[in-house]
Amino acid sequence: MRHVLTSSTTPNLKVTHMNLNGKIALITGASSGIGAATATKLAAQGVKVGLAARRVDRLQQLAEQIRAAGGEALVIEMDVVDAASVDAGVKQLVDAYGAIDIVFNNAGLMPASDIESLKTDEWHRMVDVNIKGLLNSTAAVLPYLRKQRSGHIINTSSIAGRKVFPGLSVYCATKHAVSAFSDGLRMEVGKKHNIRVTCIQPGAVDTELFEHVSDTHYREQMEGLRDQVTFLKASDIADTVLFALQVPERVNVAELFVLPIDQPW
Ligand SMILES: NC(=O)c1ccc[n+]([C@@H]2O[C@H](COP(=O)([O-])OP(=O)(O)OC[C@H]3O[C@@H](n4cnc5c(N)ncnc54)[C@H](OP(=O)(O)O)[C@@H]3O)[C@@H](O)[C@H]2O)c1
Repeated sequence: MRHVLTSSTTPNLKVTHMNLNGKIALITGASSGIGAATATKLAAQGVKVGLAARRVDRLQQLAEQIRAAGGEALVIEMDVVDAASVDAGVKQLVDAYGAIDIVFNNAGLMPASDIESLKTDEWHRMVDVNIKGLLNSTAAVLPYLRKQRSGHIINTSSIAGRKVFPGLSVYCATKHAVSAFSDGLRMEVGKKHNIRVTCIQPGAVDTELFEHVSDTHYREQMEGLRDQVTFLKASDIADTVLFALQVPERVNVAELFVLPIDQPW
């Protein structure tokens, strides 16, 4: 029998979005790709965005675009590997805007190579930026969020934080660390301090990430992926960040696994 929805059986479909206007966000890795797209999207919602990265010229260009569109943005020169630089950047944001509500831990890099190539400098760099950098920014913001008993930390992991791919062993190890840390952080600070934690795990996204691959074989392999998969746009991931932020405060979107529809792995 066909089920007919009547007013008494119709669920309440009204969606309550959290208003982000006036919130203050720190975005690491804001000078390109996913970070820049997210900064633009959040600023359009009235979020005051702290744009953090090392390439200040790129941050300044982005800040100008955001301000021209009516938003508010602060340029923060930050190397996430350097805890003092991260602490100073967070203080700069709080001094400028008075608080911090949202942290998008997004800075990262992915120089692919075989383990036997022993590109140990690149391994250490990935551990330093992808893991230690994220720990540095988490440590820098947590005291503020705890004190105000609110906040939302969003960490960029990856499909590589769920699965392992040859040539990406160290990158996968760092992103598995991000996924594990995010879940533990959520458990520790959600109930106790009223802080939400989201882990975003994108598949292939069209950004500058692949440009830093020094290994010719893997560089070509990754470029070749573009013929097989319709890469997501950075703005698609920005949309998912926005979704996680806008759900009602009682909801914690703990994980988001976001892939191109034709990504077969
Ligand atoms: N693109 C993808 O397919 C994909 C898929 C899954 C996950 N991800 C993840 O998404 C995140 C963003 O990457 P993306 O794809 O947008 O690539 P991207 O365009 O290369 O952006 C990487 C960002 O990280 C910043 N960064 C690197 N080292 C840093 C450091 N020491 N201190 C501060 N910032 C640093 C870069 O800024 P500066 O160089 O100016 O410092 C840049 O803004 C990364 O964590 C990446 O692993 C990407």
